[in-house]
Amino acid sequence: MSFMIEALSLHKEFPARKNGPSPGNGKNGDPRNDGGQRLFSPKARPQLVAVEDVSLTIQSGEIFGLLGPNGAGKSTTIRMLATLLEPSRGTARIAGFDVVRQPQAVRRRLGTVLGGERSTYWKLTGRENLEYFAALYQIPGGEARLRIQELLARLDLEAKANELVERYSSGMKQRLALARALLPRPPVLLLDEPTVGLDPQSARNLRQIIRELKEQGHTILLTTHYMEEADQLSDRIAIIDHGRVIALDTPRALKASLTQQEVCRLEAAGLPDPKPWASQIPGVQEVNCRFLTESQTWEVTLHLKDYRAAAPELLRLVTEQGGRVIQLSVKEPTLEDVFLSLTGKALRD
Ligand SMILES: Nc1ncnc2c1ncn2[C@@H]1O[C@H](COP(=O)(O)OP(=O)(O)OP(=O)(O)O)[C@@H](O)[C@H]1O
Ligand SMILES: [Mg+2]
Repeated sequence: MSFMIEALSLHKEFPARKNGPSPGNGKNGDPRNDGGQRLFSPKARPQLVAVEDVSLTIQSGEIFGLLGPNGAGKSTTIRMLATLLEPSRGTARIAGFDVVRQPQAVRRRLGTVLGGERSTYWKLTGRENLEYFAALYQIPGGEARLRIQELLARLDLEAKANELVERYSSGMKQRLALARALLPRPPVLLLDEPTVGLDPQSARNLRQIIRELKEQGHTILLTTHYMEEADQLSDRIAIIDHGRVIALDTPRALKASLTQQEVCRLEAAGLPDPKPWASQIPGVQEVNCRFLTESQTWEVTLHLKDYRAAAPELLRLVTEQGGRVIQLSVKEPTLEDVFLSLTGKALRD
């Protein structure tokens, strides 16, 4: 068997709602969730294309990151792989088993943690939750006690094992959800936004745990809209936007695709929209401008061949427009810049 996770031209459409916010992903009415939805109507019934032609092949022992903005189709992809949603078209296999035709074989090999989901019982203690799920998974008593002890220790939950989950912090709840997913010792883990909503320290701890799970041989697909997280954790990343994979490679290669460029950030006050004149600067390949309402300044991101050659002209133009430079910096491209360069928009605004 070659791949642990395999998706071939996965496609998912949902019935579109007329007007109103996009339905159904638990973030109804989220104003950021424009989702870039394209509607089309095959048989007069409009459909929302959530995932379009997504193909991924993930090897055993790999951490693979799905990186994309709100509404990109990350959770929908995970849910199809987890047998929770049937693809409209395309196929997917987990450890060689087809998610539609062999869902039980797939589920036996999967541990899934879905974002924002209540996957544990808040009126039980952490330990009771794990005992309950061990029984559901039909893990024999002695073995279950052993595994539960081991997981509580590994996920740093021992001290609070006998407290009600409703008193857990979000980091602890998230670690308990992961412990639950790990109970049946599945080779493949699907983690939807594992660190969302966690404070930086808890997020860092959880990332460390995810790395250790990889060392122990788990194959991990995780989604995130934090580019640093994708960068730090993933062996390979697929950047997904509007349901489509727009780039797929190692974090290093994705960033290297921009290294023939330098990325320069200028913040300036007292300017009209800089886009028209900024794109005139020699050597500039791309310009993105954002007005920062708080400081009433423009942030201009320039992708250019040679910053030193362009800087004098840049400063001259700012002055000529009556503007004042607040900050000017050049840096190595980040994944955010890769995304910006591919889509013309920021991953987070
Ligand atoms: N059950 C559903 N019914 C209808 N539309 C849905 C459903 N689930 C998701 N969608 C829509 O499909 C698109 C993709 O949603 P999805 O939840 O997969 O995005 P995401 O990348 O996980 O976003 P986020 O970062 O906000 O979690 C969105 O436009 C969403 O509104
Ligand atoms: Mg999601």
